[in-house]
Amino acid sequence: MWTLIALLLGFVHIAFSLVYFYLTWYHGYWDKRGLVTAKPLTLLGSYPGLFGGPSNFIGDLGKIYNKYKGKQRAVGTFLTRQPQILVLDPQLAHEVLVTNFSDYRDTVTSSYVAHSKDYDKYVARNPFFSAGDDWKKRRTDGGAGLTPNKLKQAFAIWEQTGEKLLNYVQRYIKERDNNIIETRDLCYRYTAQAMGDFIWGIDVGSLSGGVNEINQFQQFSMEWVSYAFRSITRFNQTPIAPIVRRLFRMRFFTQKSNEFYLKLTRDAAKLRLSGSGAERSDYLAHLLQLQEKGASYDDMVGHALTVLMDGFETSAAVLYHMLYTLGAYQEQQEKLRTEILEALAVNKNISYEQLNALPYLDQCVYESMRMTSVIGFFIKICTRPTTIDLGNDKILQVEPGTTVTIPTYHLQHDETYFPQPEEFKPERFDNVPVSEFTKRGCLLPFGDGPRICLGMRVGLLNVKMAVLRILAEYKIEQTTKLPLSSDSGLGIYLNGDVDLRYIKVQK
Ligand code: HEM
Repeated sequence: MWTLIALLLGFVHIAFSLVYFYLTWYHGYWDKRGLVTAKPLTLLGSYPGLFGGPSNFIGDLGKIYNKYKGKQRAVGTFLTRQPQILVLDPQLAHEVLVTNFSDYRDTVTSSYVAHSKDYDKYVARNPFFSAGDDWKKRRTDGGAGLTPNKLKQAFAIWEQTGEKLLNYVQRYIKERDNNIIETRDLCYRYTAQAMGDFIWGIDVGSLSGGVNEINQFQQFSMEWVSYAFRSITRFNQTPIAPIVRRLFRMRFFTQKSNEFYLKLTRDAAKLRLSGSGAERSDYLAHLLQLQEKGASYDDMVGHALTVLMDGFETSAAVLYHMLYTLGAYQEQQEKLRTEILEALAVNKNISYEQLNALPYLDQCVYESMRMTSVIGFFIKICTRPTTIDLGNDKILQVEPGTTVTIPTYHLQHDETYFPQPEEFKPERFDNVPVSEFTKRGCLLPFGDGPRICLGMRVGLLNVKMAVLRILAEYKIEQTTKLPLSSDSGLGIYLNGDVDLRYIKVQK
């Protein structure tokens, strides 16, 4: 009996020791290379919040950032057991993203689909999840349908969607006899309508059906995108044992959603090729041009879902955060309304160029994105041997495969670069333009360099058109203060219903 207990205890002891050694094997990695290792360092690495509990990944990043910023250009951390560099100096962020881009060409998300290219075929076609030459080709092919010229030609889609948005708000207030609208839902309706029209040339009806009635496209896209974003959190946790990705056939897009969007793309293409909407210059027209050059239906769906993912989700998130913030900053909202009404007085049907040339609107959008980051950090992969100048004559050798994190949320909330960072102050860009802050590496809502957001113009167009239409007709007010929270996926979000009051503007 005692022998059995002793054997059992011995076995448990060995098992724990093995797990302990496995998890901490690399913990001396940075000390050996002369890079300060960020403390505290736990059994789960530098970011235990990745696995839940009171903290989260962005919160843990913040603790390390605030402890070491200004003292080190970068510190060594561990993403679970994997050695990683955390950038603290914005100029180093600029070097990684722009100046030395070729040394850090890939993004960690490309490693998340390496095992699943056969069955998760559409996510694998998204440049955000691609590496090397594949990334270049997909970016070039997909991006050619998103140039300023293409968007200018498709601008009527946003004009009409803006009208439908206003119409929906009016109907909501009248039918419900209530001017408080849950604005997250409103924004998803708007981006679903705009993206359905732009990508597939269809009227998805998310703004024209019954008030609060969720239609199939919006419902399906919501489930699709929520699953994909939850998967990012799951994948972020897997460096502890990457084998689980293969073992559990982890994926981003479900088989059901793959079939849904394939059918939608085939049907839309068939309709267009039959002559319906032949004059339209939208993303479907671009996809059909790619098809003529040899793209398969799978390639077309891959491009379509790349645009849908951020055109629907990320754009809506930026929009409802901005409306929420404006709801608390009446002075800035009034100033923005004045700019909008003056522009509309000159030209009721404002053009694509005019929309993009409204300076205060631009400043408000960027200031809002600075404050609430829907993508709060980037993780890049070192793709060839390189060095980082750590200062004080210390040079760090960086090995290929090492991951490098840029904590954009924390850079954007650092009072060294943005005095009173928790205040919404679009005027901070009066004297120093947004582009200058981006060049300094401390304002990166769309990233920078060759991997800068591919759909930046679409995102800005989505957000600007909606803000223009809403503010021209309504004054918005916050009704409840909401906390921000993160699920250790990509960003930080408002937690709870975004109930805003819409008060008709007397003109
Ligand atoms: C306002 C809304 C948007 C925001 C805030 C946003 C933000 C970002 C950010 C921060 C990145 C990461 C850059 C990096 O890793 O260095 C990114 C990448 C990307 N975004 Fe967006 N995005 C938005 C809208 C869009 C839209 C509408 C599309 C599609 C048309 C899109 C497509 C992409 C793609 C494909 C990438 C990967 C680019 C690459 O790795 O080459 N985004 N975006």
